[in-house]
This record gives sequence, C-alpha cells and structure tokens, in this order.
Amino acid sequence: MTITNGKVSLKHLVTMETLSNEEVLGLIKRGIQFKNGEVEIIHDRTYYASNLFFEDSTRTHKSFEMAELRLGMGMIDFDARTSSVNKGETLYDTILTMSALGVDICVIRHSEVDYYKQLIDSPTIQTSIVNGGDGSGQHPSQSLLDLMTIYQEFGQFEGLKIAIAGDINHSRVAKSNMQILKRLGATIYFTGPSQWYSDEFDIYGQHVDLDDVIDELDVLMLLRVQHERHDGHDSFSKEDYNRQFGLTEARYQHLKEEAIVMHPAPVNRDVEIDDHLVEAPKSRIVSQMTNGVFVRMAILEAVLNGKA
Ligand code: CP
Repeated sequence: MTITNGKVSLKHLVTMETLSNEEVLGLIKRGIQFKNGEVEIIHDRTYYASNLFFEDSTRTHKSFEMAELRLGMGMIDFDARTSSVNKGETLYDTILTMSALGVDICVIRHSEVDYYKQLIDSPTIQTSIVNGGDGSGQHPSQSLLDLMTIYQEFGQFEGLKIAIAGDINHSRVAKSNMQILKRLGATIYFTGPSQWYSDEFDIYGQHVDLDDVIDELDVLMLLRVQHERHDGHDSFSKEDYNRQFGLTEARYQHLKEEAIVMHPAPVNRDVEIDDHLVEAPKSRIVSQMTNGVFVRMAILEAVLNGKA
C-alpha cells in the first residue's frame, strides 16, 4: 500500500487496520471529489470486477455495482445460488477461477471471519480482494463511507464524541469503526446491552448508559440488531430494546442541534430507531448510502492504481 501526491494505491482492502491515517484521508477526499463530479475517468483498458456475495446485501452489493459502472469497469456476474458452490466448490476455488478468467477485483462478502487470508496469501491468485464484510469481523468499505459522512459534517475527527450503540459483539461495522475512529482521535463511547459487549473493546472506549452521554455527543452511530447471528435467542422484545437502548423521540430531543445520527442499515424500524426519525433532520442515514457509492469508487480506483 502506498500514497503518492495524495493518490492511494492498494493491492487489497480487507481491514481498516492495514490503512494508514493518510490513506484513510486520501480515500475520503477522493470519495468527495467523485461525489462533487471533479474527476475525469480515463482508463487505458477495461478492468473487470466480480461481486461475490455469499451473505445477503442491498447497499454494499448494489453500491459496488454502481461504483464499478461509474468507473467504466466490466462486471462479471456471480450468483452463489446458481454457481458451482452448490457442487461443493470452495471459496478458494471460486476465486482461483475468477483470477484465471482475468477478473481484476473480487468484492466478497462471506460469513466466515477472516475468509480473505487464504486468498491474499495465495501465490496463484492474482485478483485483488475487496472485503464487503466477513461475518462479524470487518466491514472496511462501510467504515470508509461512515468516515466520509462524518468528515463532510465536521471536517476532522479529533475530539469528536461518538457513541457506537447496540449489538457491538456481532457487528463488523462497529469493529472496523472503533479501531479507526480511536486512531483518528475521536472519543468513543459504547452503549447498549452489556451482554452484547465484550471487555476486549475497552481499549477503544468506555461502555456507558446512552442517557448519561446523549447530550454531549457529536455522532450517535446506531447498529442493527443482528438477529441472524443470535441463534434465535434474542433477549429483548422489539419494544423493550427500543425503550431501553433505541433512539426514541425523547432521546432525539436531547441530542445537540449539530449532532448527527448514523446507522449502516438495513434499519429495524422502531427497534434501533423510531420509524419517523430515520429521515429526521439530524439523520444522515440516506447520505451514508449515497456516500457509499463514491467512497467505493475511491476504493476501486486505489486498487486499480495498485495494478498500474
Ligand atoms: N450496511 C450494509 O452493509 O448493508 P447491506 O447488508 O445491505 O450491504
């Protein structure tokens, strides 16, 4: 990974940990340039991407597709439900095949934490790997779009008070964000059920009651309750979760005027956030989705820079 005159070059993007602060800022600023229409896109050849989603997705899958189309890339369709995965083909063999076919970038979402290690360590696989989410591990492109959204609002990260609220143990978004936001100088609070929190996160911030900090926050980052990772044993009814930990109208009124509310979506309406607050003035949930396209263009461009 390198950065030259603000231009980021990456071989892969699998975690936030491997990006320097300078590279993070480079990708955010490039995303903003793409959003503002300030980039002329010229490639001397067509590059090819394939989006391989072994877990469900709307935003990540479709915004990578949109980013690839906007960059003039060719897209190689892949649907796990109709592929040779059903004949026992392993992930390694699927990606080995994509590499042999000449696919330049594979965007992958998979339920296995760290699935990408065997792929980036392979001496045979030439395709670059962009992690679209590995189980409850990491979600670097979501983290970068979240950072772009915060940067557009506040222009920096140092000293911002940010609460990450909810199902932290199961959230790859929380794990990517806590690491990078702490490194960029933000103060992190964790809120939500203590049984969905682990002491291992104490190095990044303090677990507190949301009501004790809500009026000091710059950013309230809500997380989706990940029912699919709870083995069918959710410990709260929707109403209980909303009342104890969610963003209700009463809590919304306690936020500072300039504070923002974020959520990676999909949103469980009336659970993490009251239905009518999803598009409220302090909510940036829709902006996050829009920013996802542009920061993903910056990520893909950085990987193509690495190939040039
Ligand atoms: N935020 C996010 O990753 O959404 P999808 O699961 O729809 O991609």
